[in-house]
Amino acid sequence: MKKRVYIKTFGCQMNENDTEKMYILLSDEYEPTLNPEEADLILINTCSVREKPQHKVYSEVGRYKSLKKKNPDLIIGITGCVAQQEGENLIKKLPYVDLVLGTQGFYFIREALKTYKKTKKPVVFTELKPDFKFPLILESENNSIFKDRKVSAFVTIMQGCDNFCTYCIVPYVRGREISRPPEDILKEVETLVKKGVREIILLGQNVNSYGLKEKNFPNFPDLLNMVSEIEGVWRIRFTTSHPKDLSDKLIEVIATNPKVCKHIHLPLQAGSNKILKLMNRKYTKEYYLAKVEKLKSLVPEIAITTDLIVGFPGETEEDFKETLEMLEKVRYHEIFSFKYSDRPFTVAQKMENKIPEEEKERRLKEVHKVQAKITEEIYKSYVGKEVEVLVEGASKKNPDMLMGRTTTNVIVNFKAPRLDLKGAIVKVLIDEAGKHSLKGTYLKTIRS
Ligand code: 5AD
Ligand code: SF4
Repeated sequence: MKKRVYIKTFGCQMNENDTEKMYILLSDEYEPTLNPEEADLILINTCSVREKPQHKVYSEVGRYKSLKKKNPDLIIGITGCVAQQEGENLIKKLPYVDLVLGTQGFYFIREALKTYKKTKKPVVFTELKPDFKFPLILESENNSIFKDRKVSAFVTIMQGCDNFCTYCIVPYVRGREISRPPEDILKEVETLVKKGVREIILLGQNVNSYGLKEKNFPNFPDLLNMVSEIEGVWRIRFTTSHPKDLSDKLIEVIATNPKVCKHIHLPLQAGSNKILKLMNRKYTKEYYLAKVEKLKSLVPEIAITTDLIVGFPGETEEDFKETLEMLEKVRYHEIFSFKYSDRPFTVAQKMENKIPEEEKERRLKEVHKVQAKITEEIYKSYVGKEVEVLVEGASKKNPDMLMGRTTTNVIVNFKAPRLDLKGAIVKVLIDEAGKHSLKGTYLKTIRS
C-alpha cells in the first residue's frame, strides 16, 4: 500500500502550483490525503509576503506536533517562501520539523526524503541559484493522482523577481527572474489539455518580462500566441503583470487573440507618485492611467483587477486620497488590498514615518468601502446580459447549481437543466448581481 502525504498550502497561485508539482514528484511512493491525521508525510508550503501569512505557518506546524508524538515515523516538512527565508532557523525554533526545502529546494523532495530516512537528521535545502533549471514535471497522461478532472490549470512560466519594490520580500525568497524554456511550457500545456484541462493560467511574479533575459526565447505576447495554437486550449489567463513592462504588443494580443481572456491583473499598489517612487515601482500614476486607457480603448469589455497597499511609510492623507481617486478613475472589477507590513531584508522596513496600525486599518476600510460600490455597479451592469461561461463544476453554495467564470474572470452561479456540463463553455443569461459573483440561467451549450 502506498503511504499518504498531506500538503497544506498558503500564499499565491504559484505556491498552489508548486504543491501540485510536489504531489506529482511524490506520487510513486505517496498518495494525497485530505486528512493530516492519517498522513505519513505532512508538508506545509508557506508564504512570507506579509507578516500575517508567516505567523499562520507557526500555528499550523504546531498543530502537527502532537501527531508526531502519536506516530514517531511521521515526517514533517516546511517548504516554500518561509522555508527559504528562515532555513536552519526553523529547525532550531521547531525541533520536530524534519525537512526544510526552499523555493528551488522543493524540487529535490525525493532526494531529501531519502537522505532523511537514512540519517534521521533534519535536511535543509535552501540554495537559490540564479541559473537554476526548473525540472519539467509532468503527470502521466492517463493516470491522475488527483481524483477530480481539472478544467483550469496553472503553468509556471517564470519565477523570481528582479524589480526590488522596496516593500517586497519576493526577490529574496524567490530569487532572480528565471524563465522556463518555451518547449517545456508547451509540453506541460499539451499534457494538461490531453487530461481534459481547457483553461491554462500562466504564472510568474512578473510575466511581462518573460524571456527578456534569455537569448532565443520568445517574449510574453509571442508565448501567449504559441500557447493559444495548441489545440484543446480554449482559454488562457495570466498573472501577474507589472505595469512598467505592459507592452502595446501585449495589449494587442489580448485584443485580438480570442483564446486570451479579457482580464488583466495589474497591481497599482498606490495612487500617489511620491509613494510609487518610495516603493520603487518605476511608473507614475499618469503612465498607469495611460496604459489603462489603451487597454480599455482596444479591449472595451476588459476587466481590470489590482493589488493595493495602504499605509506605506510616509503615506499622508493626501497621498491616500490619490489611491482612492485611482479607484474611481480605473474602475476595477475587484481589488486585493493590504495594510503595509514590514518584511525582513527590505528597504521599506528601514524607512521612517511608519503609519500607526489603527490608521492603516482605517484606510483599508475606506478603500473597501469605495471599491464595494464600484464592484456593485460593475456587477449590476452584467444583469440582463448574455455571457459565455466556462463551467468549473458544482456551485459551492448550492450543489444544484453550476459554477463557472466569464472571460472577465467573474464567478457565475447558474441553474441548468443538467449538471454534467463541467468543462463546457455555455451561454448564461445574468439575472442577479451579488457582492462578488453573479447569478444566472443557462441558455445553451456553445462548446463541450
Ligand atoms: N506589505 C503589504 N502588502 C504587501 N504585498 C507585498 N509585500 C507587501 C508588504 N510588505 C502585497 C502587494 C503584492 C501582493 C501580492 O501582496 O500588494 O502585489
Ligand atoms: Fe507568498 Fe510571494 Fe512566496 Fe507567493 S511568491 S508564496 S505570494 S511570498
